Amino acid sequence: MSGYFRPELRQRAEELVTLYPRRRSATIPLLHLVQEQDGYVSEAGIEAVAALTETTPAEVRGTASFYDMFHLEPVGRYLVGVCTNIACLLAGGEEMLEHAERVLGCAPGGTSSDGLFTLEESECLADCNLAPCVQVNYRYVRARTPDEFDALVGELCEGRRDQDIPPHGTHSRVKRQVTLRAAKDEVAAERTRQRDARAQRDAAREETT
Ligand code: FES
Repeated sequence: MSGYFRPELRQRAEELVTLYPRRRSATIPLLHLVQEQDGYVSEAGIEAVAALTETTPAEVRGTASFYDMFHLEPVGRYLVGVCTNIACLLAGGEEMLEHAERVLGCAPGGTSSDGLFTLEESECLADCNLAPCVQVNYRYVRARTPDEFDALVGELCEGRRDQDIPPHGTHSRVKRQVTLRAAKDEVAAERTRQRDARAQRDAAREETT
């Protein structure tokens, strides 16, 4: 992977493979790093992950292609998902998707001509009580009417949502500041501590019932 990851991601990539008994188990978190760096799962990234996990590019590509959240082709800075599953369907999800197509100028699966937006038709996004649900880069944005959607697009175009909606591929804005490694005896001690604490809570609950 020499030279592929930028420095701050390279260190994290090297740490990730040490977390698992088998290096290939780090494939998915490493693919997220690739997507964070390139905005999608690039060929160079696939080769880097294969080298790190001591597998082949074909194996890494096979894993990436299985999951919806990994994109093997470039997508816009903003991936807009509109749910049309049952609760959203009943609350105007289809109409919202058609509106999004008109506003962004692309069909589901397509990217706007300025390269800023990629539109997706989504399955249930687990926000059914506030249907219809729209996500941008997997963040809930609560744009439930055409007017709210238009306002959202305007804010994104002007960069006014950069704080809460980073570019596509950024899995988490808050990075762990400490090493990912944990000694096995520390993990065992923590598990024992948690088991004891749970037993104490259970005992206290039984006493009060
Ligand atoms: S059906 Fe749309 S979020 Fe669940």
